[in-house]
Amino acid sequence: MRKIKVSTQTQDYDVIIDSGIKDVNVLLKKHKIKAKRFFVIDSKVYKYHKAVIDKIIKANPGAKKLIITAKEENKTYETLQKIHERLIKNGYGRDSALIAICGGIVGDIAGFAASTYMRGIQLVHLPTTLLASVDSAIGGKTGINFHNTKNLIGTFYQPELVIVDTKFFKTLPPEEINCGLGEVVKYAFLSNDSFNKYFIKNYRDAVKLKSDVITKIIYESVKIKAAVVRQDEKESGLRKILNLGHTFAHALEVQQNHKLKHGEAVVTGISCALYLSHQLNLITTAELEKHLEPIKLFTQKFDLEKPDENEIIKIMLRDKKNRDGKIKFVLLKGIGELLVDVSVEKKQIKKAIENGLSLFIN
Ligand code: GLY
Repeated sequence: MRKIKVSTQTQDYDVIIDSGIKDVNVLLKKHKIKAKRFFVIDSKVYKYHKAVIDKIIKANPGAKKLIITAKEENKTYETLQKIHERLIKNGYGRDSALIAICGGIVGDIAGFAASTYMRGIQLVHLPTTLLASVDSAIGGKTGINFHNTKNLIGTFYQPELVIVDTKFFKTLPPEEINCGLGEVVKYAFLSNDSFNKYFIKNYRDAVKLKSDVITKIIYESVKIKAAVVRQDEKESGLRKILNLGHTFAHALEVQQNHKLKHGEAVVTGISCALYLSHQLNLITTAELEKHLEPIKLFTQKFDLEKPDENEIIKIMLRDKKNRDGKIKFVLLKGIGELLVDVSVEKKQIKKAIENGLSLFIN
């Protein structure tokens, strides 16, 4: 078992990483999670891990559960309302905890529900995907989509505890693991050369979920995210580096009608960001080639249709990270050396999209 402490201005909490936790309720008790618990569970996770999840819930007499299908289209006010209504109907008060057993989509909605119900009840994340374990379950971003824009409405609300049990990953399809590794690539650029090299060397074992590799990858990623969030919980500065590739990625996801998964979009987005960094002479051609190495591990694998770059730019203009009507980018100068809030001319953006996507379109 590995443990990382995340410390923010609003909350300190543990992230526990293990590959087969025997009794989740023991951990909940040890971390003083309120005894009146409401479970929000991803429908697919419930289908594949029903016995394990029922055992956890059964040990909480009177606990209720709500099963939600994980799709972007469900990240809405209606789903949020459903959670709140179930909480009210079943008499959950301030002395309650919401336990989210799910990936990032349901986790974001569940977090938003916990943060707004009675001005906030305890929240525990049990992320069931690699992507959620290294990103959305950590750091307190919650939200729903609105007006065809991802996570437009939401809160910063830190959980009380995060329990990552990699046994849930075993039923994930290979593309979902790959998707999680797509987000890990981001951390490989944010940290240091040694994690970058480790990632490239161990990518194949990570895809196969080799226990020590996957645990180390999660541990290193969470450690980097925790360090960033500790310094800038509400994304007023440093935390923006976690959005490397994301301006491109969010727009691509919308443009491709969410057929492209988030982690896949992030790898593609980082590819565009690297080309843009090169176009602006932040990195040399040799550096670009070197930085594209981890990205190239992913090519050939995505279901990406050649997009119209203008359409992507139009979607980018709605990004909540924009300021003064200008699209803002996170760009790379070197490993661990990022520039944030860079605005760029439209023709450069178009070129970066064209170059960045060329690696992924046959
Ligand atoms: N996913 C980026 C962040 O949590 O800030």
